[in-house]
Amino acid sequence: MQGEQHWSDNNSRSFLDYGRYFVPERERQIDMIADLIPAAPGGLLVELCPGEGLLSRALLERFADCRVLALDGSEPMLEQTRATCRDHAGRLATGTFELADRDWRRFSEPPHAIVSSLAIHHLDGLQKQTLFADLAAALRSGGVLVVADIVRPPSAAGLAIAARQWDEAVRSRALAIDGDLAAFAEFNRLGWNYFRNPDGEPIDKPSSLAEQLAWLSEAGFTAVDCAWLFAGHAIFSGRKP
Ligand SMILES: C[S@@+](CC[C@H](N)C(=O)[O-])C[C@H]1O[C@@H](n2cnc3c(N)ncnc32)[C@H](O)[C@@H]1O
Repeated sequence: MQGEQHWSDNNSRSFLDYGRYFVPERERQIDMIADLIPAAPGGLLVELCPGEGLLSRALLERFADCRVLALDGSEPMLEQTRATCRDHAGRLATGTFELADRDWRRFSEPPHAIVSSLAIHHLDGLQKQTLFADLAAALRSGGVLVVADIVRPPSAAGLAIAARQWDEAVRSRALAIDGDLAAFAEFNRLGWNYFRNPDGEPIDKPSSLAEQLAWLSEAGFTAVDCAWLFAGHAIFSGRKP
């Protein structure tokens, strides 16, 4: 990421090219996010910032009678989402939005689940708190918020572990996918490993996992928990009572 204040078309291009290498355990993460959503016949599932739409597609496949609303700030990313989900086009709606704004946080019907992967860390701590409170208000009773995102370890030791694990994960994925380390070299060239230089990019504002779990509880969520954590990437969730 290149010192920009907001997610840009350049960021989108890099992510579309390299997301499959750069996201640790990407396929397992998608499965776990879906595992955290209770069955919801006919319900509305909302994905914030779907990117190329792999999670939206998994939700459309897993919850065959649900509809997905996918919101992203980038129209080129939403085009990718629609292409990825073309086999389920009748159950997918898309729209552009700014994650930090609050005007989109009322839906035509209360969603059964709201999910987001690798996007909420673009909000600062106060914006995350406001987002969690607004989404708690928007969800239907029994609905869940599931967040997959990078989280900031509060200690130097934790940062070093996350940095090392992320490097190892990208090296492994590069070798498994291509049999060489070209994608890992690009990961380094782009300076993508947030944990190596945590204060280097104003676009990235991950909060600690502990803070975010507390904010979910303060927002009124119950069953707040972290289901998975590796390489500074966490999947955590809460249920609307
Ligand atoms: C790193 S990509 C993640 C894509 C996908 N969720 C995934 O996990 O593969 C971040 C996505 O968030 C969107 N995004 C970033 N900041 C945003 C903002 N402030 N408002 C709306 N969308 C934003 C980008 O357009 C992009 O699609």
